[in-house]
Amino acid sequence: MQTQRFSSIEDIGLGLTGEALLGAFTPFICKDASFADHLKLVLKQRRATLKRTFSGEKETDGRQAEKIKAEYQVAWSRGYEAYDLARGCRKPEPWHFRGKRMILDRAGVARMRSVMLAAVIRQIKPRRVLEVGCGNGINLLQLAGAFPEVSFSGLELTDAGHQVATGLQKAGALPEALAGYAPETQKDPTAFRRINFVQGNAGKLPFEAKSFDLVFTVLALEQMESLRQQALAEIARVSSGYFLGLEPFAEANASFWLRLHVNARGYFKGAVAELPAHGFEPVWASMDYPQELQLGSAFVLSKVR
Ligand SMILES: C[S@@+](CC[C@H](N)C(=O)[O-])C[C@H]1O[C@@H](n2cnc3c(N)ncnc32)[C@H](O)[C@@H]1O
Repeated sequence: MQTQRFSSIEDIGLGLTGEALLGAFTPFICKDASFADHLKLVLKQRRATLKRTFSGEKETDGRQAEKIKAEYQVAWSRGYEAYDLARGCRKPEPWHFRGKRMILDRAGVARMRSVMLAAVIRQIKPRRVLEVGCGNGINLLQLAGAFPEVSFSGLELTDAGHQVATGLQKAGALPEALAGYAPETQKDPTAFRRINFVQGNAGKLPFEAKSFDLVFTVLALEQMESLRQQALAEIARVSSGYFLGLEPFAEANASFWLRLHVNARGYFKGAVAELPAHGFEPVWASMDYPQELQLGSAFVLSKVR
């Protein structure tokens, strides 16, 4: 197995900087947090991981569809209120970036990822883009307005995710909480109405072969360990160009606590180094962006062979 080289975010040729990524989080950073606050949150997470590991809650065979649905039905039914910039840091979690610890509310994370995804779209200029496991559509809702010339589709397993996103489209306008969220200039604020949201399963994508120039996933393969081979094969089938994954690849979770957490939750265990075996040729890979403390991820662009 070849070993993967991870580049700094400045070195992957997208014009991104660490400061810009951190900047996207700014409204959601808990500014007055102390070392003791951080430690308390870390210990709480580690206790939860140990409890899961040594109880019947451990998801040994990868996450199963019923468990995923139960969790995300609840999450996506909450709507978009948490994205309101004015709410600040309501749900503190321990994160880190370039050796510095910080406390953030994860409601800000989709802003940072939007900066990263937009930079890739600017570079490879796809005409047709699919997000697999798009949840409530938060990534696509931001990208559509910034790239009105691109045709976006989003596939999601749960009713709740699909309904909340299509509900916005029917309403015709973004709720106030979302209107100011996207960090990228929204050239056409009505473009979200044209996103093709589809309910379905990543194990059998309801699209023709080579329907998209770019297929991306953001912590969605994370949930698909039990169908890892099928999901990757389906992505390779429907993409004619690129696969972009921001996922908890094995290389990003090699240390003890991260591995324990991935195992306890039944998360994705695929490695970047294994992507060629699935028909992908990695172009670059980076882990150099703010990361949550209990789960590492890598941002990887691959060409589809
Ligand atoms: C952690 S969430 C990420 C959502 C979104 N990508 C984002 O960045 O906010 C993972 C999503 O993957 C969806 N998912 C899990 N298994 C799936 C499957 N087999 N097919 C399609 N979606 C799936 C879940 O329902 C959930 O919405």
